[in-house]
Order: sequence, then structure tokens, then C-alpha cells
Amino acid sequence: MSTAPQIPLTAPLAKVLRLHGEPFADLLQNTEFAPGEPVHGFAVDLEVPENVRDMVDHIIQLGDIYNPLASFEERESQIDAIEVGFKSIIRDGAMQFDDETFAIFDRHFAIEVLSTLSSAMKRLPDFDAVMASADPAAVLSEYSESIQWQLHVCGFLQRFSSHAEDRGEVGKIMAENFFHDAFGYYCDLRDTPGYFARNIDRLNSVDETRALKFRLEEGRAFVTRILDGNLAIARDKFEAVPFDLAEEISPAVLAIAARFGLALKQNGVEVYEGSNATITWTHDHAGKCYGNAASMALVVYNLIKNPVKGARMSCNPLPDVKISTGYSSDGRCTSILIRDEGLGFSLDELRKKFTGAALEKLNSGQPLSFIEECLVDEAMQEHIPFKAYADLVCNRGASTGSGTGIGLHLARSIIEEGHQGAIRLYNHPESGAAVQILLPLADNSVDKESRKQITRDSLQHQLEYGMR
Ligand SMILES: Nc1ncnc2c1ncn2[C@@H]1O[C@H](COP(=O)(O)OP(=O)(O)OP(=O)(O)O)[C@@H](O)[C@H]1O
Ligand SMILES: [Mg+2]
Repeated sequence: MSTAPQIPLTAPLAKVLRLHGEPFADLLQNTEFAPGEPVHGFAVDLEVPENVRDMVDHIIQLGDIYNPLASFEERESQIDAIEVGFKSIIRDGAMQFDDETFAIFDRHFAIEVLSTLSSAMKRLPDFDAVMASADPAAVLSEYSESIQWQLHVCGFLQRFSSHAEDRGEVGKIMAENFFHDAFGYYCDLRDTPGYFARNIDRLNSVDETRALKFRLEEGRAFVTRILDGNLAIARDKFEAVPFDLAEEISPAVLAIAARFGLALKQNGVEVYEGSNATITWTHDHAGKCYGNAASMALVVYNLIKNPVKGARMSCNPLPDVKISTGYSSDGRCTSILIRDEGLGFSLDELRKKFTGAALEKLNSGQPLSFIEECLVDEAMQEHIPFKAYADLVCNRGASTGSGTGIGLHLARSIIEEGHQGAIRLYNHPESGAAVQILLPLADNSVDKESRKQITRDSLQHQLEYGMR
């Protein structure tokens, strides 16, 4: 009987075995499903001292200094006055707080800015109300001014980032998130009504009227969800309340279709015309989902945007995208699968990106994780499995292009930390990538640990029986 040849267990071979064998799971934190508590340890019910509350109210009121009807020079000086007022409140007031009070200020400020914007957005008239009014031009003009005022209020988040030095984590994250997803749409919501207010006779054209209707209905619905989704993150409150999945994510899907000129087919019916590529959405989810509805729109928007934006940046034709919304294979989770015909996650680019970061750590004497050790060892790089990259690519700032690298990180924190669900990235062997989200079908009466268990069970079932 021949015996197997003895292979010396060199250090690199041991690494490879660890990568491919069982112990691998233990070596990569978070690669296996292990949703943690929210990274920021947010206090859920914030006790806000009176002076902090006053200070934040004072900041929001600064937005009223701006008068859109004033002359250009007057508006310039109003903007200066807002800046001076804001700077003095932050520098002379908030920055003098001890760390604990500052943390409360930071969170309360972000929450108040976002909720002020969200309620202002909800108060705006809808398309039908504008058209039915006695003077649509005047109503559209007020609409545009209200959005301009909102842009001033959200400008406080951005100013805060530059004045708060190394403090103010929540405000800074909210500023980044806001500009990442909402800013362009906000400007559209200001400019389109403004344009029609000045050119009201354009509403005689069916196509132009449709464009206005789209902005005021779908555009506004999308921005409102972005605001409410970020508000849930700032509050760290992701209650598992029932919602209708198709209804909630539809504005995000339409926003992408409109932005990139993609057709949208929903269960075989074309609901948006476009010629650059097609989003095919198959919806097979009869009941309710549980979670924070608005934040799902944020996630889905970012996941569909990735392959489309990736193709545009590399001057490739825009890829088709398939969305399947339904149930996990065991029926205990909602499953959202976004599969694209794009380039797929480029392991070369990811390797380059993360190797650079690992080398920097090595050179500055910081300890390396196991995966970073493999990255700096050239012979090891090709053995690193995709799932290790899939984990790294969800870290904030892990963009390989000119993006900010917020999209996947946002998706992972909302799904895994906020909802005890799971997000999984896949590369198709031939072309394209896919991202799957699992969201436990459980309401608020189910505690976090049990929700995590539902997700784990669904992932395990899917491993054994395949996706449905
Ligand atoms: N569907 C996809 N196909 C191919 N690569 C992808 C896909 N989704 C994400 N990636 C890769 O993952 C990286 C991180 O994605 P993420 O959404 O976090 O940031 P980004 O898209 O680069 O920037 P941002 O979202 O801020 O615009 C991307 O830079 C890209 O390399
Ligand atoms: Mg992205």
C-alpha cells in the first residue's frame, strides 16, 4: 500500500491550508456572519440638556437669515452672516463642552438637521396640488425657495465637519452620507420647479409636464427616504416595523433608472423607458417586510448604482441589472438579490488597493491582521479567497475608483448592525457581480439575538439547498 507523499508544512503552505480549510472562518473577523453591536455605541434615547437643545435650535434658525427674494449683494451678506453665526456657536459654544456633552450635542444636532429637512420635505405640495392651485407658477416658485432654504440647513452639517476638528463623528458621517446620496437630487428638486415657475407655459407640453411630475413625485419620495434612512442611522433606531418592500424601494430603483437612462421592467411590465440598459425587477414577496423602510431605499440605491457607475467610469456600455425581491430559501427572511452584468468585483484592483494599505501599516510599524499579512506576501496573494475581499470591500473608504467608498459600508451597517440581517457579495465566474441581502421576517417583539439566529439559519439553509 502506497502512502501519501510527505509534504513539508512550510509557513506559506500552512497559511494556504488555513485559508482553505476549516480554521479559516475563525481567522477573518466578520467574514463569517457575525453582526456586532453598532460601531458607534449610540445611545438610543438621548437625554438632551436644555443648553444643548437651545444651541441647536439657534443653529437651525440661522437658516431663516437667507431671503431668496433679496438682491444678489444682500444674499451674499446673508450667507456671510450665517457662516459667522454658525462658526461662533460651534467654536465659542459647542467646542467648549466636555466630551460627553459634545457627543450629545453632535448627535442631537445631526438628528435635528435631518428631521427639520424631512418634515419640510413632507410639507411640500404634491404634483396634483401644484397643478390644481390658482397660481402654479407662484406655488412652484415657493417650492424651489423652500428647497433652497433646506439646502442652507443641510449646509450646517457640512460646515460642522470643517469646524468640529476631530470631534463630532455623527454630524460628520451624516454630512458625508447626505452629500453621497441626496445632494444632486435636492438640487434637481430646487431647479426643476424653479425653471417651470419662470417658464410656466412649458407645462403645455406633455413631456415637460411628465418631467415635472416625476421630480415632484418620485424625486421627492426618494429624497425623503434618504433623509429618513439617515435619520434612523443618526438615532440608531432601526425598529422592525412592517412595510411593503416594493413600495419602499421603488423610488430608489426609479432614481437610478432616470439618472442613467435605464429602462425599468417590473414583473414583465415596462414602468420606465430608457435605452442605455435594462433593470429587470422580479418581485415575488406577498407580505410585509420588517425593518426601517426608508433605509432600505438607501441600501438598494447604492447597490444598483455600483455596477452602473463602475461601467460609466471605465467607459464601458452600461450593464443590465436584475433585481429579485422575495424570500430566502427557508422562507424566514426577505431576500433582495441585485445581480449585474457588469465587470464584477475586480480582484486585481482590490488586491492593489488593500495591499497598498497593508504596506503602509507595515511600514509604520502597526500590527497586521492575518489577511493583511497575506496581502504583503506576494506568494500568498492569489490564494486569498474572494470572501476575504468581500469583507474588506465593505469597510468605509474601500473604493477602488474615484468614489468615496461609502455605498457598501452604509449597506452593511444598515443591514447587519441595524437589522441583524446579512449582506453577501458574489462574483459570477463569467461576468458580473451580485449582492444579496437577507432581512429576518420578525417584528419588534423578537429580540436581537433571535433575529440574528433567523438570519444565520437562513444562510445555512441557503448553503445547503441553494438560493430560491
Ligand atoms: N457591482 C459591482 N461590480 C463591481 N465592483 C463593485 C460592485 N460594487 C462595488 N464594487 C467595488 O467595490 C468598491 C466599493 O464600493 P462602494 O459602493 O462602497 O464604493 P464606491 O462605489 O467606490 O464609491 P461610492 O459608493 O462612494 O460612490 C467599488 O469601488 C468597486 O471597486
Ligand atoms: Mg458605491
